[in-house]
Amino acid sequence: MKVAVVGATGMVGEVMLKVLAERNFPVTELIPVASERSVGKKLNYKGEDYTVVGLETAVSMKPDIALFSAGGDTSLEWAPKFAEAGTTVVDNSSAWRMDPSKKLVVPEINASVLTKEDKIIANPNCSTIQLVMALNPLHKKYKMKRVVVSTYQSVSGTGVKAVRQLENEIAGVEGEMAYPYPIGRNALPHCDVFLDNGYTKEEMKLAREPQKIMDDKTFSVSATAVRIPTAGGHSESVNVEFENDFDLAEVRQLLSETPGVVVQDNTATNSYPMPIFAHDKDEVFVGRIRRDETQPNSLNMWIVADNLRKGAATNTVQIAEYLVEKELI
Ligand SMILES: NC(=O)c1ccc[n+]([C@@H]2O[C@H](COP(=O)([O-])OP(=O)(O)OC[C@H]3O[C@@H](n4cnc5c(N)ncnc54)[C@H](OP(=O)(O)O)[C@@H]3O)[C@@H](O)[C@H]2O)c1
Repeated sequence: MKVAVVGATGMVGEVMLKVLAERNFPVTELIPVASERSVGKKLNYKGEDYTVVGLETAVSMKPDIALFSAGGDTSLEWAPKFAEAGTTVVDNSSAWRMDPSKKLVVPEINASVLTKEDKIIANPNCSTIQLVMALNPLHKKYKMKRVVVSTYQSVSGTGVKAVRQLENEIAGVEGEMAYPYPIGRNALPHCDVFLDNGYTKEEMKLAREPQKIMDDKTFSVSATAVRIPTAGGHSESVNVEFENDFDLAEVRQLLSETPGVVVQDNTATNSYPMPIFAHDKDEVFVGRIRRDETQPNSLNMWIVADNLRKGAATNTVQIAEYLVEKELI
């Protein structure tokens, strides 16, 4: 496979190269792509140096597959150009996710919707992926009515600039700000931009993407997204109301039998998911599983995953693996 990684110099792009190498994706030619600022830079992949090229050059090289993580504007402009050249694009930005003509895929849930005709495939938002990984098996069994989620999101979810802001603040150095306020010793109820309805764009991604991935509009999701000064992964406090009652032991069993999900839930040993455990892992960790005692058929839980891996790079590479395995590219 001739593989282009668009945004290869960024937070997600760097992990994308790592995940492609770790999972031995059949790369015969790697094309690292970034903005004009980075053209000519060298990036290492499996011990070899590769030179970063611009988008125009990358399209002309006609890759088989292009894994995009270079922001929505780049995707909107360039994904169609790659697709026209015969390349299958898997895109990490929000540009195509809610486009009815594009598939939004978490392979463990809905990879089977993919066909040869899908030339631009959307990777869901990082917070959405870890949420649906835990919700999907429970919805199948107990039928969800409503989900209320509050996120505690890592600065790595904003990109290189935000990680640098936190590092500068810790070191006491002045520098460029990714956020309107300091992030160290702070919590910002503000992920992505504010919309007319008072929610942020991140909150609306959480509210809308799960129904598309799970192909079911019968449940609703209400979200509050908060940025906190962690770097290892996103955490989520999740309250779910089901139509049917459940047994807590069965909930734990169902989750622990779900591929890609790990139950970490033993209060006697202080065992619960945290970003420092989830960091650099592909699994979605679920714990603090307990009944919401204030209303019937309702559950509380805590979900943590590395936003750069399952939330972005790993999910993208899994989609690419599925396309190869099913001979869809
Ligand atoms: N971070 C996450 O957890 C996460 C999770 C899921 C999805 N995403 C999405 O993935 C994308 C990248 O996120 P990130 O966190 O990796 O950001 P980042 O660290 O800021 O990296 C951005 C990357 O995009 C490249 N880029 C920027 N403008 C470009 C242009 N005009 N043409 C070509 N390349 C350009 C940058 O190249 P230069 O180095 O040359 O500037 C860099 O490689 C975003 O769309 C984001 O929403 C991020």
